[in-house]
Amino acid sequence: MTMKPFLPFLTVTLFLLSACGLEKPPASLKFPGATEDAAPVAPTATAEVPSDPKLAAGKVVYDANCAACHDAGMMGAPKPGDVAAWAPRIAQGAEVMTKNSIAGFTGKAGMMPAKGGNASLTDEEVTNAVAFMADKSKGATATAATPAVAPAAALADGKTLYDANCASCHESGMMGAPKPGDKAVWAPRIAQGKALLVSHSTDGFKGKLGMMPAKGGNAALTAAEISSIVTYMTDKSK
Ligand code: HEC
Ligand code: HEC
Repeated sequence: MTMKPFLPFLTVTLFLLSACGLEKPPASLKFPGATEDAAPVAPTATAEVPSDPKLAAGKVVYDANCAACHDAGMMGAPKPGDVAAWAPRIAQGAEVMTKNSIAGFTGKAGMMPAKGGNASLTDEEVTNAVAFMADKSKGATATAATPAVAPAAALADGKTLYDANCASCHESGMMGAPKPGDKAVWAPRIAQGKALLVSHSTDGFKGKLGMMPAKGGNAALTAAEISSIVTYMTDKSK
């Protein structure tokens, strides 16, 4: 954790160093009469780099400082591109999201550190990163009109919901997450009673093995959905 602010700094430094090296046009390419501005700088062909310069700058900040948590959806960090996870956040307005990202905040899904843990970022850099993340997560207008969770999906069985929300950690036993089917690991947990398992799943908890984020990081899950997932997980592990 103490390395955290240093790593992004290193990455940015390396990025800037390599960028300087790349952007210095070879003198031999300069033609007489050509202005400085006309120096042929090939546009980066990477489709992922946004054309809007603010969003492009935001992507650089994001990659170096925010992706560690947000790209993996780690500990509840909303993943850019996950329209359902972002819709309620975007609805708060860019100002609230930006303020939360600069100052840090604890929400239902987890803890967002101030400036992602890199205090040397300027407010403008964080603002650009937030704009980049929100822009990637807006979804098509058609998608936005449809509820993210269709009524049929709300009634989906525990397995479908588990696959979508919990498997990322639990299927691989990542960071101590108990794996459904592993009877030895589940026996003492099942013995606690379902009510406690559901409350731990809903509110999150820190056990001996690691951190279980509230609702696995998906605040949109209902109590009934959590209950059906826990039933699925425990039934598989008896
Ligand atoms: C250590 C992990 C971590 C890092 C690094 C991180 N975030 Fe987050 N972020 C989170 C978590 C967890 C949440 C969700 C908190 C919640 O709603 O419970 C979050 C939420 C957010 C939100 C939503 C805010 C809202 O109001 O809903 C934005 C925007 C955001 N982060 C931007 C950033 C930016 C920009 C960076 C990089 C400068 C960054 N994050 C780095 C963990 C992280
Ligand atoms: C980011 C990783 C992660 C995700 C995603 C996740 N879990 Fe967990 N979960 C854990 C970890 C780690 C533990 C074990 C904590 C410990 O005992 O130290 C755990 C423990 C549990 C337990 C056992 C609780 C107890 O009291 O022993 C249940 C039940 C559970 N998770 C349900 C869920 C459900 C339901 C979801 C999806 C909605 C989910 N988890 C998503 C990491 C995760």
